[in-house]
Amino acid sequence: MQIEPVPDTFSQIDADAIVLGTYESDPLAGYVGELDRTTDGILGQLVESKELTGKGCELVPLIGVSGVKSRHVLIVGLGQREQIDSKMAFRAAGTAARHLAAHARRRVAMFMDADWSAQLWEAAVAGACVGCQGQDLYRSQKKRHPFGELLVGDASADILRVAHIQGDSVNLARHLVNEPAAEIYPESFADRATQLAGECGLEIEVWDEQRLAAERCGALLAVARGSSRPPRLVIVRYRGAPAGHRDQTLALVGKGVTFDAGGLSLKSSDGMLAMKCDMAGAATVLAAVQAIARLELPVNVTGIMGLVENMVSGDSYKLGDVLTARSGKTIEVHNTDAEGRLVLADALHVAVEQKSTCMIDLATLTGACVVALGNDVVGAMSNNSAWCGQVLDAARRCGEPIWQLPMFAEYGDEIRSEVADIKNLGEGRWGGAITAAKLLEEFVDGTPWVHLDIAGPSFLEKAKSWSDGGGTGVMVRTLVEVARAFG
Ligand code: BES
Ligand code: MN
Ligand code: ZN
Repeated sequence: MQIEPVPDTFSQIDADAIVLGTYESDPLAGYVGELDRTTDGILGQLVESKELTGKGCELVPLIGVSGVKSRHVLIVGLGQREQIDSKMAFRAAGTAARHLAAHARRRVAMFMDADWSAQLWEAAVAGACVGCQGQDLYRSQKKRHPFGELLVGDASADILRVAHIQGDSVNLARHLVNEPAAEIYPESFADRATQLAGECGLEIEVWDEQRLAAERCGALLAVARGSSRPPRLVIVRYRGAPAGHRDQTLALVGKGVTFDAGGLSLKSSDGMLAMKCDMAGAATVLAAVQAIARLELPVNVTGIMGLVENMVSGDSYKLGDVLTARSGKTIEVHNTDAEGRLVLADALHVAVEQKSTCMIDLATLTGACVVALGNDVVGAMSNNSAWCGQVLDAARRCGEPIWQLPMFAEYGDEIRSEVADIKNLGEGRWGGAITAAKLLEEFVDGTPWVHLDIAGPSFLEKAKSWSDGGGTGVMVRTLVEVARAFG
């Protein structure tokens, strides 16, 4: 899909469809007001009959409107004008795009609000990219058709270039998550990372099982043992920082469990169904590094992805096993389904060793986080409030819902073990998102670090108005925004 500035007014533009934004506070202002004047007050009548209210993500499709060249006009609600934010911009544009992408269209033009900031436009264009891309990977009849061209009013070519890169990367993360485990397994994920690194000029290292053994990644290797698919650890490096800032490096660490059957602590069929999504953290990291590199941001970023399958076999790791992680700490296994923290224990230790100055890890780590915050909100846990504040602020600017959970020392008492340094499970099931984060904290060696539990928001069981179901690419834009503000 091409994305470019609009060369014309909305009434003159030669497009298959135009999208006009309108606010709940005053649905007859702005572009919709202009249209009302050319159409003898049709829109006023719709407002009168409450069929057009401007409520967030409301769609009012009109066909064959007088005074407009385009045959289709789609009015999309933006909610209250005073409350417009990136979240609404993303969702409204996504909703409009998803509606229009149900049919193939050569050219669509979008006019939201002439006063929007770059931040709002970036969110809206990314939303449009998401709305145009569905879960069609394996469908013979596609349900979504990206437009040939998306033209955007009131946004500069520069803003659109940045926004398009972000939207593409969000869709890359969604694509990787949507591919089934038969297609995306540790080796094939690493192959895709290698290909992408070539395209974006990234340095890449892929550790195979011999290298992982030589590097003493005992926790990650234990999880991998039950699978016939060998594990990988991928390190990608983007070096954009100017001299003087070269020593600042942001590390992004992703959980890449390409399928989580639970191991011997086997999941139920229902609990396992969506577990191809358990590599969403790694997909998010790869996609964000891609965007950062394409944007040529003046920062150093290292992406580290721990890739394994958690399966059942005669060689699976067992309950009661004591693993020696790369850092030398020992971990007693109380549940083989609490595998993500084991993979990250080693991946985070690699990140520390790579001299990272700040770290963020992303993981579909716990059902407990979904219990705590629901499906739409990312859980943030950290050892450093200033660094956490930077991540939360970036997420807010991008309109990605996130909430911080506490990390009081008492939670850490729950993972003490009778036989090893720590165990991979809390005492009871309460506070499970945090006891998991407490285990991770053992491996970051005091480096400023934020853990993002994306178990809920990374995967949609059902479609939303702005997105088909499946992978969401949540946090890709936030990570890019963190990198923009970094250093
Ligand atoms: N990958 C799961 C967490 C998960 C749950 C992701 C739902 C996405 C949606 C993780 O590896 C897991 O199994 N966690 C267990 C931990 C428990 C055994 C302490 C869980 O949440 O039940
Ligand atoms: Mn698990
Ligand atoms: Zn898992």
